Amino acid sequence: MEPVVERTMTNLPSLEKSFDFWNEMGWPIGSLMVMLRPLHHWLIGNVAKIKRGQKVLEIGAGYPLYKLYADKVGRDGLFATVDINNNIQGRAKKICYWIDGFFEKKSRSDRIVHSTADATKLPFGDNTFDTIIASNFTGGDDNVREALRALKPGGRVIYTWDEFLSIPILTAIQAQKCKELGFEKVKIRPGAPGSIVPGQAWNWYMEASKPVRQEKLGSILPEK
Ligand SMILES: C[S@@+](CC[C@H](N)C(=O)[O-])C[C@H]1O[C@@H](n2cnc3c(N)ncnc32)[C@H](O)[C@@H]1O
Repeated sequence: MEPVVERTMTNLPSLEKSFDFWNEMGWPIGSLMVMLRPLHHWLIGNVAKIKRGQKVLEIGAGYPLYKLYADKVGRDGLFATVDINNNIQGRAKKICYWIDGFFEKKSRSDRIVHSTADATKLPFGDNTFDTIIASNFTGGDDNVREALRALKPGGRVIYTWDEFLSIPILTAIQAQKCKELGFEKVKIRPGAPGSIVPGQAWNWYMEASKPVRQEKLGSILPEK
């Protein structure tokens, strides 16, 4: 006897093929990309060379993948995050405490300050931070001047993006902006695989230092 329904969707072969492709390739590749995301943040933690006692700021921080390196500042240091979205910051704070609770490190997140603010108007004084980090920051490049102000002399910025087709265009534009505003030692480097979008599968990052000799910055910094 003929089976009543031999297969579903036999009248839609192209859709069926797409489903097969998703199950066999799309889902595993997608999952792999998601799992690689922490690798990207692990790399940031390493290139930022965060040390105990330092003050570090992450702008456009989003959800707390920065927990992978924030605790490196230790009890004497400070890890500040700024995001313009208050809901994200509220949830991020809760997630940080939840992670600490899960790993029984209840007091670590006391050293993480979550501020809701615009990265072009940072709520911090001049010469405060050793390092400023921005990963996939979507607020334009006006924050560079503020980063320069809030960094200590000799402090470093690290900007990183998942680049479209993995070509470092945003990274190069940001590097140029940093050079124009007086940053030194501006370098572009390949980052880690870590995007959830296969077309942007490779990250690039750029790093730069604030000059130790402040007079080099001329009239770049805002007037008092
Ligand atoms: C693409 S998400 C990146 C999140 C995280 N850094 C990461 O790499 O996974 C960009 C974040 O920048 C924040 N953002 C956009 N414009 C901003 C601004 N002017 N000041 C501060 N945060 C901003 C957004 O709210 C968002 O959380």
